[in-house]
Amino acid sequence: MPAPERYTWDSHLEKGIGPMDATHQEFVEMVDGLLSCPDTELVERLQALAEHTREHFAQEDRWMAESGFPPIAIHEEEHRRVLSAMEQVLTQARQGESEAARQLVAQLPAWFEQHSATMDNALAMHLRHTGHPAARG
Ligand SMILES: [Fe+2]
Repeated sequence: MPAPERYTWDSHLEKGIGPMDATHQEFVEMVDGLLSCPDTELVERLQALAEHTREHFAQEDRWMAESGFPPIAIHEEEHRRVLSAMEQVLTQARQGESEAARQLVAQLPAWFEQHSATMDNALAMHLRHTGHPAARG
């Protein structure tokens, strides 16, 4: 499958949880920037994405723990897997091997669409049902 050239925010990604939507919007913008950036910007942008993603996932992991989200283990594991893949290709990109990073970046839009429609959707519903503070923000 050819890599998408752009990835842009769309209302179907909105979950109605203010802080979650804001973080996801930033994630989409950063992935979009990485899709078309020159090699000279790859490491810097990828590092920024990895840092942002670490916070993004930690925030959701915290909400899951606080609200007693039943499938927390599956969702956390998915976060760990994606973050560690990102950090691995970042290490390679720092050593001048950008191919794996480009491949991972190309897969992120499809991964996020799927993740958003399943795990984040379920979490957003759970946060609303339990009246978690993030659902009021
Ligand atoms: Fe998530």
